[in-house]
Amino acid sequence: MTEHLHKNFEGGVLTLRLTRPEKKNALTRAMYDGLAQGLHVAATHDETRVVIIAGGADFTAGNDLADFAAVEADKPRPGAAFEFLEQIRAFPKPVVAAVRGVAVGIGTTMLLHCDAVVVAKQARLQMPFSRLALVPEGGSSLLLAQRVGTALANWWLMSGEAFSGEEAMRAGLALRAVEDAQVEAEAVAIAGQLAGLPPGALAETKRLLRAPMREALEAVMAEERVAFSQQLRSPEAQAVFAAFLARKK
Ligand code: COA
Repeated sequence: MTEHLHKNFEGGVLTLRLTRPEKKNALTRAMYDGLAQGLHVAATHDETRVVIIAGGADFTAGNDLADFAAVEADKPRPGAAFEFLEQIRAFPKPVVAAVRGVAVGIGTTMLLHCDAVVVAKQARLQMPFSRLALVPEGGSSLLLAQRVGTALANWWLMSGEAFSGEEAMRAGLALRAVEDAQVEAEAVAIAGQLAGLPPGALAETKRLLRAPMREALEAVMAEERVAFSQQLRSPEAQAVFAAFLARKK
């Protein structure tokens, strides 16, 4: 595990916690690798029944924009984020997310692959891809509309406007919206409840819930990956990242 990802295993529940608070848990390659590796091991570790993905006061401000700015035009995009998304898409056991503070970009799109999402009512979720001159990722082009309906999916992905945890729950993106101080306890309670159920039946239930969409989702994620990688290198996107990194100078 990296210095910015903490792993804890207790009572059949593996908690993967993002710990880079000074950057609002913006995700580096090492953090994606740590998350992907944690899921990879948990998938076949019999004692692991449920995974919780959590942050601290913030869930995550999304991909580290310095990494986006440093992408080289002539090299394939470092695939760490996409590899993590592939791992979470295919992960066979229940995943619970505990979301406080900001959940930006992949911080929101990864929630579409979680089975139970607990948010703070005041959390600030956002998929600002269009504002960054990027495009949707993580299967959100397909899954978001399915989850919250076309009108909201169009708006959230096209305008890049932020919304609250309470709105996320009303729209069907989150299972529960609670007070900030209750988020962790609620996520742990849900994980504990699931960890106590027969694991074979749970895995099979998850597989069946996802089966109708599996092939379509794989195709969408592959297409998004191509478009995202192209757009990432575009002058319009690189200008946005440079402006963000220069704003405090
Ligand atoms: N990548 C790299 N650094 C980031 C970051 C990111 N995605 N998000 C936040 N940070 C850093 C800031 O640069 C700042 O670092 P500094 O103190 O060394 O200057 C620190 O985290 C705190 O962020 P700050 O912007 O001061 O907090 P805020 O409360 O005013 O705003 C956000 C929070 C999340 C709204 C704002 O940081 C933001 O818009 N971040 C970019 C989000 C984004 O576009 N992510 C990519 C999605 S694909």
